[in-house]
Amino acid sequence: MNSKLITLNDFILNRQKDFPYASGELSSLLSDISLAAKIVNREVNKAGLVDILGATGNSNVQNEEVQKLDIYANNEFISALSVSGLCCGIASEENDEFISINKPGATYIVTMDPLDGSSNIDVNVSIGTIFSIYRKVSIGDSCTMEDFLQKGTEQVAAGYVLYGSSTMMVYSTGNGVNGFTLDPSIGTFCLSHPDIKIPKESKTYSVNQGNFIKFPEGVKQYIKYCQENDKPTNRPYGLRYIGSMVADLHRNLLKGGLFMYPSTEAAPKGKLRLLYECNPMAYIVEQAGGKATDGNGNRILELQPTELHQRTPVFLGADFMVKDVESFIKKYSSVEAV
Ligand code: AHG
Ligand code: MN
Ligand code: MN
Repeated sequence: MNSKLITLNDFILNRQKDFPYASGELSSLLSDISLAAKIVNREVNKAGLVDILGATGNSNVQNEEVQKLDIYANNEFISALSVSGLCCGIASEENDEFISINKPGATYIVTMDPLDGSSNIDVNVSIGTIFSIYRKVSIGDSCTMEDFLQKGTEQVAAGYVLYGSSTMMVYSTGNGVNGFTLDPSIGTFCLSHPDIKIPKESKTYSVNQGNFIKFPEGVKQYIKYCQENDKPTNRPYGLRYIGSMVADLHRNLLKGGLFMYPSTEAAPKGKLRLLYECNPMAYIVEQAGGKATDGNGNRILELQPTELHQRTPVFLGADFMVKDVESFIKKYSSVEAV
């Protein structure tokens, strides 16, 4: 192997030395997640070849059509986390209730979206996995709802895996964000994007603009602002929207930009889920020097969860872009209230 290559496992172990009193459990958990990601990646890559494509015909708790790869990914991550001995509970997008794992002494819980962007599976467009790790806070051996309803500020690590033109794992333990690309020839994630920071020169916005008519007035006005000609501020901004949060977020992290999933009248809390979509992504974005709010001045990481599958409007990306859209929302909310 090239001596300059830093593998994910080497990196995790090296970082472990930064925390002399840590037990190494978090490092192990991250390694287990990366192993499950490689297994899911194998299936994602051959999805067009085997009978794993297509809908199962079932709906999940949120009445969305469940794809076979959703189930496959869910099972793989659950089994990797279950055998680890370090995780005593999992909340997944695909499970109505949290899953309790009988591992006395296990001190972590995980929330996850095992397959994000599932509407893109059938058309060979990038999809992902999102995860968050928290410390168990309840007393006793088994986990309780209290463990899962912690604010995003309590995350000890969060990250995502992008199954794209190459496969990447990007994560943070609260000390910056690092990205690792899977080298398929050796089956190893290698450090490819050290210390990711959102570029200051951001000029991309990402939103499902087909919903324009349903957005709050402030969001509509901000979108119009993005489309105006103004050289000093680099406008008009480009619009990029894949429809997989992981892929959209990843692009904006590297190239700069703003990702929005606003509320609508019919869906006042938006679409995306706080525990396993917004919180982990907000953690990554903040660690990369960006900002993540609900559009009304509330930091995503400080929202108090009250249920597992809670949704929230979300605006995340370059600091100045989040501030700009928030000021439009504020300005026009008083007009709407009249
Ligand atoms: P999931 O596949 O886990 O249900 O998530 C899909 C999410 C997210 O990835 C994406 O940003 C968003 O749904 C796209 O929604 P629209 O199709 O409404 O734009
Ligand atoms: Mn998702
Ligand atoms: Mn999903």
